[in-house]
Amino acid sequence: MVEKVQAPIEALLQEGRTFPPPDEFRQRANINDPGVYEEAERDPEGFWARWAEQLHWFRKWERVLEWNPPWAKWFVGGKTNLAYNCLDRHLTGARKNKAAILWEGEPGEVRILTYWELYRQVCKFANVLKSLGVKKGDRVTIYMPMVPELPIAMLACARIGAVHSVVFGGFSSDALRDRIQDAQAKVLVTAEGGWRRGNIVPLKRNADEALKECPSIEHVVVFHRGCYEQSQVPMTPGRDLWWHELMAQAPLECPAEEMDAEDMLYILYTSGTTGKPKGVVHTTGGYMVGVYATTKWVFDLKEEDTYWCTADIGWVTGHSYIVYGPLLCGTTTVMYEGSPDWPERDRWWALVERHGVNILYTAPTAIRTFMRWGEEWPARHDLSSLRLLGSVGEPINPEAWVWYWRNIGGGRCPVVDTWWQTETGMIMITPLPGITVCKPGSATRPFPGVAADVVDDAGNSVPAGAGGYLVLKRPWPAMMRTIYGDPDRYVQQYWSRYPGIYFTGDGAKRDEDGYFWIVGRIDDVVNVAGHRIGTMEVESALVDHPSVAEAAVIGRSDEVKGQALWAFVTIKEGVDRHQGLEQELREHVARKIGGIARPDRIIFAAELPKTRSGKIMRRLLRDIAEGRALGDTTTLQDPAVVQTLREQYEHLEG
Ligand code: WT7
Repeated sequence: MVEKVQAPIEALLQEGRTFPPPDEFRQRANINDPGVYEEAERDPEGFWARWAEQLHWFRKWERVLEWNPPWAKWFVGGKTNLAYNCLDRHLTGARKNKAAILWEGEPGEVRILTYWELYRQVCKFANVLKSLGVKKGDRVTIYMPMVPELPIAMLACARIGAVHSVVFGGFSSDALRDRIQDAQAKVLVTAEGGWRRGNIVPLKRNADEALKECPSIEHVVVFHRGCYEQSQVPMTPGRDLWWHELMAQAPLECPAEEMDAEDMLYILYTSGTTGKPKGVVHTTGGYMVGVYATTKWVFDLKEEDTYWCTADIGWVTGHSYIVYGPLLCGTTTVMYEGSPDWPERDRWWALVERHGVNILYTAPTAIRTFMRWGEEWPARHDLSSLRLLGSVGEPINPEAWVWYWRNIGGGRCPVVDTWWQTETGMIMITPLPGITVCKPGSATRPFPGVAADVVDDAGNSVPAGAGGYLVLKRPWPAMMRTIYGDPDRYVQQYWSRYPGIYFTGDGAKRDEDGYFWIVGRIDDVVNVAGHRIGTMEVESALVDHPSVAEAAVIGRSDEVKGQALWAFVTIKEGVDRHQGLEQELREHVARKIGGIARPDRIIFAAELPKTRSGKIMRRLLRDIAEGRALGDTTTLQDPAVVQTLREQYEHLEG
């Protein structure tokens, strides 16, 4: 029965209220011995090697780690295959006919792929890729809706040693073009469309637009999702091929390539502080081990669990914790194609009830949206199958944590707030649900074997209660290895502030109990609804518009999205600032990058505040947007500029 927890959130948030693992959960947990922290700390390499031993290697490694900062090699000399470990390894036992992927489309179809069926599809598609000339090391870009063919394409790449680069389906044709060009991909896998809130996302049309400037692409494989009739989809002869036609002819036999532990597995682009996205490179062996270990312990996966991570596979969360981690564990991973409010605001809770979901992993933005929609939506459904809840992507405020725990978890389920990044590949700071006493709003402690610290400018650990920069002091198996095609930027970006120490770009505090409280980005990166957006990228999109002279973009705190994008813009001399210009600029950015980067507000300014050397002072713009007192203005070239902006802003707010 669902235990209803009636206490108001405020009462649960009283000073000092902590959340230990419920007894029954602790007793059954995959890991409940607090000694693991010390054990891993004593011998981190031994700790990771013991995880690696649980997986399949064609050849065992000679050394666990070779560390020449900032260059790491894990499981040196080892040969393995990630797709083999996700599929073949499960086919000789009871998992053969177990559901691997349980998929629900937005219109309501359900498809269940068993491990056996998934294996067959992956082998066939691997042969399709081979028939198109894809070889080990070649890059394949995947631009798909959330359908099973997306993980099938990823696993097929991993099987033959091709490098996948998944581009989120919400990105625009320009963003897709840039990523294909950077990776020099040979094949693009896409679909004619996907469903989102009852609308069609025109993926193939975007792809055609992008491919006008992508000479590296030799073939496009198009999965027919059924949004349009096949005859309505323009296919370029010789280049474009239908997924189902290729699959109908593909042989089943496809041995898994013996990959070196350090062979590249995938590239995933993420925003940084420059206008150009970074291609984060992950390799095979270490990524596999790190993701496997964290999935098993953080989500406490059991053989009978149905696990649902609500992310899109276009982000790292989907790579590690929809596809690779759960399949490595032999679990049933749920995929949902569409929007949470389609056809109504209880779609997720209907899904949990229908499929008996046991573990749910989502983002604070989603939780805050549900809070806003009201408790009645989850209350309509029986959510008693749930036993563990997770959060990722941005800091979760204590109110949202407690709401989640109470209204979704019925007060029974531990909540794991997991901190990590595209670059870390795996969860790094997190509770272990059978051990950790949680404090709402804190990601708690580093995973065993992970060395995180909070340091000051000089690199010294800050005392308890103080704030500083979040750093990682020891290599970990799933760490990024480089930025694709730009090793200097890898060194510069992550390893130069404190030599030999990884700089996360996040600010954090650590309390008296050693718990970490992540504050957020300290660089020119904004976290909108759990998605990282570089302000420079948005600025370049804005100045690309013929009316715009200059633009400065900042993140302003937002109750639902965590942060929202606000753009301060000056327009060119002689341009008419007509009524529709704000809307036009917002749409221009959405077209250039994708809907997630569309600014919430455009503020037209006569001038932007600058230092005497001409640098835009975004800090002051943030102060203005947040409506707080201006920080230090002594370096400002012309103080009148901020004064005018401030008055204008107050006027805007009405
Ligand atoms: C940035 C990484 C890795 C999953 C999705 C985002 C922020 C992530 C948390 C958390 C506070 C968090 C950080 C980080 N972040 N998880 N639990 N608490 N902040 O991946 O796009 O690479 O962004 O997201 O700022 O640096 P990403």
